[in-house]
Amino acid sequence: MKEKKKLWSGRFQADMDQKTQDFTESTETDLRLVEYDIWGSQVHAIMLAKQKIISNTDLKQIILCLDQVDQDFKEGNFRLDPQNEDVHMNVELYLIETAGVEFGGKLHTARSRNDQILTDVRLYLRQQILDIQQQLSDLCRSFLSIADQHYHTVMPGYTHTQHAQPISLGFWATAYVSKFLRDLKRFDSAYTITNQNPLGSAALAGTSFPIDRDLTAKLLGFDTVQEHALDVISSRDFILEILSNLSILMVGLSRFCEEIIYWTSYEFRIAELDDQFASGSSIMPQKKNADLAELTRGRTGRVIGALIDVLTSLKGLPMGYNRDLQEDKPPLWQALDVVKSCLAILPDMLGTTHFNTIRMAQLCDMNFITATELANHLASEHNIPFRQCHEVVGSVVGELSRSGKTFADWNKTQQLLKTKGIDLKTDQLQQILDPINTLQNNGSVGGTSPKEVKRMSQNFATQLDQIEIQISSRLNHIDHARKKTRQIIDLVLSTQQLTTIEID
Ligand code: ARG
Repeated sequence: MKEKKKLWSGRFQADMDQKTQDFTESTETDLRLVEYDIWGSQVHAIMLAKQKIISNTDLKQIILCLDQVDQDFKEGNFRLDPQNEDVHMNVELYLIETAGVEFGGKLHTARSRNDQILTDVRLYLRQQILDIQQQLSDLCRSFLSIADQHYHTVMPGYTHTQHAQPISLGFWATAYVSKFLRDLKRFDSAYTITNQNPLGSAALAGTSFPIDRDLTAKLLGFDTVQEHALDVISSRDFILEILSNLSILMVGLSRFCEEIIYWTSYEFRIAELDDQFASGSSIMPQKKNADLAELTRGRTGRVIGALIDVLTSLKGLPMGYNRDLQEDKPPLWQALDVVKSCLAILPDMLGTTHFNTIRMAQLCDMNFITATELANHLASEHNIPFRQCHEVVGSVVGELSRSGKTFADWNKTQQLLKTKGIDLKTDQLQQILDPINTLQNNGSVGGTSPKEVKRMSQNFATQLDQIEIQISSRLNHIDHARKKTRQIIDLVLSTQQLTTIEID
């Protein structure tokens, strides 16, 4: 007689080969799902008893054991044994070994590991989404506090990494808030898709037991029941959506870091990192490097890679559960961990960065950055078609630059304009070409004028407030569901009949 080890080994005559065992187990990955597997099991057992599929006595025994495994796990006394494959088998075996198969063996009624894994992952992910949203909101607040101090601080705005038009530092900072708010909204939508109840789909076809999927949804804090069992079991697009969101966000963070890296270079010198968030060189004593920003940029590939990994796993899968699906978790964990670790530190890096506003202003005087404003002036005040204004200003810039001069050589600039038939006094010219005035002038909706930037900044702050209210209401909802589950467990343990317990 073989020694039976696996809970599914009824039809097998031989034990699993050790290498096959090692190849297929997922206990290390599953470690972060233990608490959710226990919660899902508690709720499933409550539902089974409520529906009279198992007795109150069965429920009590199961719940006692689940409490015990929970406590053992928290105290470090319950480890996932790789020989038992995954989190589900480890928890169930613990129950069977502790309470005996007559009780523990009933927990898996009307349930499959296929709906169990989805339940665990969805419970875990919704928490992760809320954590990331909060962190991202913190980063946005850090940008907003820079904006608040710099509505009037001029700096070069770039296109093609060349001086384009003056903008304010506040305009730059709020651009990131504008961008990251979309990421926050993408995660909001992913939350809705994620927070649905897969439990009760069983293996793929539902079950002949009279289960109550609304009840498990309610006790697990899911917003709805995800109904179609075959789709539930087969689909991982909620994971793809989260990975896409993480990738898009990470690309945004990487672009921000790219700016910090070259802004802190000697050539730019428009920002300097606080010592706490910079690194030195082992050989070159003078170095101060933006390693934090570089590593964020450098780890972006890992997040994008995770998305590609899961997309590739999924593209060839037929409907139903396929073991390939186990492979969604390591890349997903990796992507979440990278993004969360970057978000944990970037607000502090940004908040302590010193911006060299004098250098920013100097750069705005060095390279014809207000040329567009001069062309605009000629078009609006001299009634010259803009295309011709562009040509006139362009040729003035060309001549000044060839002779090593800038607009600030006022006499020369004035003289060159005169040859084109445009008569402007020095003080007029100085006013038109003053970068600060350019900021004020760009008052179109969404422009860089201090008034507009302040308006947008306030609007963004309000949107962040709303998102944070949503995060905390979702956290409360989850907390309420946990407490409700606990309350029912305590009543059952105090020997009350489940039928007398008010669940709604
Ligand atoms: N470890 C599996 C996963 O992560 C759990 C589900 C196993 N189901 C099965 N039929 N083997 O997907």
